[in-house]
Amino acid sequence: MPLMAADPLDASAGVPYELLADLRAECPVSRTTSGAYFLARHDDVLAATRDVDVFQASFRASGVVVLPEEQLISEIPEPRHGKIRRIINSAIAQHRIGRVEPFVRELCNQLIEPLIMRGHGDLVAEYVTPIPATVVAHLLGVDPADHARFAEWSDLVVQSAYATENRRHDGAEGEGLAGVAPDFTAYLDEMIAERKGSADPPDDFVTRLIGTSVDGEHLTDVEMRTQLAFLLMSGNETTRHLIANMLETVCTDAALLSGLRAERGLVPTVVEESLRHDPPIHVLMRDCLEEVTIEGVTIPAGVKVGFGLASANRDARTYEDPDEFRLDRPSAKDHLAFGGGPHVCPGASLARLEGRIALEVFLDRVDEATVDEPYRREPVPVFWANGPRRLPVTLTGVGPKEVERSFESRETEFI
Ligand code: HEM
Repeated sequence: MPLMAADPLDASAGVPYELLADLRAECPVSRTTSGAYFLARHDDVLAATRDVDVFQASFRASGVVVLPEEQLISEIPEPRHGKIRRIINSAIAQHRIGRVEPFVRELCNQLIEPLIMRGHGDLVAEYVTPIPATVVAHLLGVDPADHARFAEWSDLVVQSAYATENRRHDGAEGEGLAGVAPDFTAYLDEMIAERKGSADPPDDFVTRLIGTSVDGEHLTDVEMRTQLAFLLMSGNETTRHLIANMLETVCTDAALLSGLRAERGLVPTVVEESLRHDPPIHVLMRDCLEEVTIEGVTIPAGVKVGFGLASANRDARTYEDPDEFRLDRPSAKDHLAFGGGPHVCPGASLARLEGRIALEVFLDRVDEATVDEPYRREPVPVFWANGPRRLPVTLTGVGPKEVERSFESRETEFI
């Protein structure tokens, strides 16, 4: 197995799709320049996500020790992972009871308004970025006045060493989340304390977390705040790139935009195809816990392994014309953007809902939209993420009459 001259983990200049295609064809299990191994093919990635005895999620540098209470849900081994996962699932499922959809629609309408009035702006900064952080903050029960601070904290933590190294400069064990974002942990601690001290706490995610036990044991306050922070990070950085990637595609493809106007029922398919074609997480990192052989290559215990989600999603063994953005795929949801196995994303349906509404409101309110030239996609600075940093557009709004008509026609569809 040759050592690669280019690094498939490096998406700092965009996901290296040509290199990934070469790897799928010639070298499905490769060794990267940083010493990690990389899985390029769809079926290998899917099988590896299911093999949690061999591969354990890892965002951090090799050998970093994390306090057990500060282990993110992705990092917790079975069987405890499954138990904590059930608590998280039940809390996220709140959105199904219809409380979130009107909130997201109202939020998107408010955010798009100033852009339409001005006729131009950066869609990523002004429209896309506030949506997921505000929605997670709303679900957690955060005071609306503090929603913007939540978005800032999420960026701070995801881009900090906490998410990658969690190590002090002297090499000692890391200072944890409180060391990186003390205001954030203090805020979460206060939310927990307030609900614990209240006779009539609000019906929100934090209250549910406090009330739920695992094998008769409640989570400690530090465990709760760790999972709350992770929920914000995992739901924010990812969904933001889903919406931004989708809008970038729609605004650079006039035929797609007019096709969507003619047939609104295609919106969920655009969401799925965007997730396949441009997954918000291009790679998942794992620690290899025991020696394993894949595609004839032996991966030793103790190394890092990257699961190439973006590569898997463009595998011609699984998808016809994988580089094409197509709306006629037989199983549009059959992609690996949300991972697979026991850690498959529990927020997938919430992310799909946000993506769908963000695009619907965009179509409701925007008549014409073009990306300002010269446009060169600048990738975001988070190594595992895949989304544009900016999307400068010029747009014209739909007149108030058309907006009314579009809402009326949607109501009829639902009846
Ligand atoms: C388009 C948006 C999203 C994408 C592409 C995405 C993708 C993923 C992927 C690939 C994983 C698996 C990680 C692994 O195996 O190591 C994951 C896990 C997770 N996601 Fe998402 N996610 C999205 C949105 C959300 C949302 C909205 C939430 C919740 C608010 C969320 C919460 C989580 C959590 C808690 C986990 C850890 C699950 C576990 O380890 O059992 N995600 N996500």
